[in-house]
Amino acid sequence: MSTFQAVADLIYLLTAAGFVIGLHLMNSPARARHGSRVSMAAMAVAVATTLAVISHNGTTRAAGWAALSAGTVLGGGAGLVMARKVKLTDIPQLVSLFNAVGGGAAAAVAVSELVRLHSGSGSGLTPRVTITSMFDVIIGVVTFTGSLIAAGKLQGWLSGSPITFKGGRLANLVAFAAVLSLGGLVLAPGHSLLALGLAVVVLAGLGVTLVLPIGGADMPVVISLLNAFTGTAVAMAGFVIDNSGLIIAGALVGASGTILTKLMADAMNRSVLAIIAGGFGTGDSTGTAPSTGAGVQPIGADDVAIQLAYASRVVVVPGYGLAAARAQHEVHALAEMLEQRGVDVSYAIHPVAGRMPGHMNVLLAEANVPYTQLAEMDRVNPEFPLTDVALVIGANDVVNPAARRPGNAISGMPILDVDRARSVIVIKRSMGHGYSGLENELYTDPRTHMFFADAKAGLAQLIASIKDLVGT
Ligand code: TAP
Repeated sequence: MSTFQAVADLIYLLTAAGFVIGLHLMNSPARARHGSRVSMAAMAVAVATTLAVISHNGTTRAAGWAALSAGTVLGGGAGLVMARKVKLTDIPQLVSLFNAVGGGAAAAVAVSELVRLHSGSGSGLTPRVTITSMFDVIIGVVTFTGSLIAAGKLQGWLSGSPITFKGGRLANLVAFAAVLSLGGLVLAPGHSLLALGLAVVVLAGLGVTLVLPIGGADMPVVISLLNAFTGTAVAMAGFVIDNSGLIIAGALVGASGTILTKLMADAMNRSVLAIIAGGFGTGDSTGTAPSTGAGVQPIGADDVAIQLAYASRVVVVPGYGLAAARAQHEVHALAEMLEQRGVDVSYAIHPVAGRMPGHMNVLLAEANVPYTQLAEMDRVNPEFPLTDVALVIGANDVVNPAARRPGNAISGMPILDVDRARSVIVIKRSMGHGYSGLENELYTDPRTHMFFADAKAGLAQLIASIKDLVGT
């Protein structure tokens, strides 16, 4: 190995350390931004190192520089514009698109390398290159089309309900067997490029048929899984073109995506396999008329204001509806008002509240809610019996006591025990279901009062009512 290559590899190792430190900093909300900056800086150094490696390699200098510059400007520019414009509730779709691009790019690297070596003397077509290339193509192409379907479902371009067809699972198995046979032809002496082309087409279809039967409720878990696939495909691409930076970065994404997928599945008490098998959940409810059905106790803003203003301890339970209404600033304003009156206010965070990991943390951080007021489920649950008012805002499944019973879609899912608080106020627009599609028996509990309103408008009414009540 030349001294130049040794130095390049050392820099790649340092950038990998930067990624790990960045990930570690993201463990705490207070340091997460810093972690992002460290990771971005490490990535910039990795790209610069790759440019230097290409410059050093005289044969591909001009083409390499042109391709990297065009890719950086086009990809970086598009990514920057999309990330700045995206609404917080649409981030899962954006992540899914990024997964598609990552998986597709990794597969393209492997295909182009196989074609290039095939068109040359063929001497580079060693088992190490062909086997890793084939793995890269399989994972990358499935991730590409699967992620596009996932993004389409979340964006509402495709139905959020599971889309199944008769014999679908058998067709997937046959397609997978066909890919393995075609892969054999790519690896065998002669290295059939036609087989490679056919495998890409079948894999593209497989990505679509694997994700279509999965319901919208499970899509964030699928996106996390596809993110793990993207990382693995990128690591494979690193083996194909012998780039240690890609191998390390891809392996980190693959490992962290796998861990996150497992954590999310555990927090919903579902197995990853059951999620991939599909058929659970639909999409968001659009809100139906408020109900005055048996057991439901509607309440107005003035009565809620009295309960809150004269409470000693209030726990706010945010859910998807708070994000959909973009009411994070209003909830913070209400909390500050209560704190000024000496009320102890905290926020109970369920690990899968909302539609993406950390959704509530990001949302509340955007409104400058102090991190110290956020309490995780395990810590806050024992405190509900000592809580005067649990203020549930746009949360449904994560507070549904039905989860404690067997035999329903959320059985076994850990929930926030708000029904053990002295009083429960729920702000939502109607008796509409949560993502699981289940009725919520909390809403008919004798301790619960329903304040039917859009979260943003309802919180604004509460702030006005408290001002009227206490005269500030
Ligand atoms: P959900 O159970 O989805 O319920 C959200 C509620 O918000 C709905 O019942 C809806 O009722 C209400 N809502 C919608 N828009 C509103 C608005 N503008 N103002 C006020 N309320 C509004 O939410 P959750 O309790 O946060 O649970 C999350 C669900 O997503 C769980 O089932 C979880 O397993 C699933 N999930 C989450 C993740 C992650 S990582 N977070 C991943 C996969 C799946 P109305 O229509 O009556 O207003």
